[in-house]
Amino acid sequence: MSIHKESVKRVTTHVLSEMKLKGEKISMLTSYDYSMATIVDRAGIDVILVGDSASNVMAGHETTLPITLDQMIYHGASVVRAVQRALVVVDLPFGTYQGNSKEALNSSIRIMKEASADAVKLEGGSEVLESVNRILSAGIPVMGHLGLTPQSIHKFGTYAVRAKEEEEAKKLLEDAKLLEEAGCFAIVLEKVPATLAKKVAESVTIPIIGIGAGNGVDGQVLVIHDMLGITQEFSPRFLRRYHNLFAEIKGAVETYIGDVKSKDFPNEREQY
Ligand code: KIV
Repeated sequence: MSIHKESVKRVTTHVLSEMKLKGEKISMLTSYDYSMATIVDRAGIDVILVGDSASNVMAGHETTLPITLDQMIYHGASVVRAVQRALVVVDLPFGTYQGNSKEALNSSIRIMKEASADAVKLEGGSEVLESVNRILSAGIPVMGHLGLTPQSIHKFGTYAVRAKEEEEAKKLLEDAKLLEEAGCFAIVLEKVPATLAKKVAESVTIPIIGIGAGNGVDGQVLVIHDMLGITQEFSPRFLRRYHNLFAEIKGAVETYIGDVKSKDFPNEREQY
């Protein structure tokens, strides 16, 4: 039987591993606020990621680096209040887990306590293993994130496809295995060649959720503002736009402005 919408009341990390076993693809989208998360959850999404992409699409920053732990908790708590079915994963923001596993644990505990999230996500492999282990030892589910890791943009210098060269591809595969062995329940794999992504998905037993990683992985994730066409200037090859919400909302706002100016709004029925 499919694990889709009708048969699962609440998506857990265990449900996700069953989905991988059964070959059922996992759907994941970002959300950052109550209203959007309500729509996304009622549509039947499996996982909602409260991504640090909130730094870009909600706050207008160029990178994901400026967003703070308090801000991620605010977004996470808003999403959790809306959700009835999806698993909610909240990103650990830049500077709250790298290089200090005690801080990583404290940051994760704050996310679990104050946002009531189901899990945390962090970027990196062997470099953050100590932090991953310490968070997991407190019973907090961890999702990894390999390939293009936007928090390291200043190290990479570009948002281009990662792991095209053999050495980087080898390290990525090793990192995926390290994260699996440590006990991560899934890994996001961003912007890597599809053949490599497929190989990674076949080499580990935990679900690999791709973004710009082709169709050979166990699920897909997109930033909701990108797939709905709210953002306009971001157009990587992997992005499929399901709507042009920018144009729709702009059109509605223009009509409203016109109605106000022409005194058409409010009419007799729209007043007391
Ligand atoms: O922050 C985010 O939205 C993400 C996705 C791009 C996977 O990490």
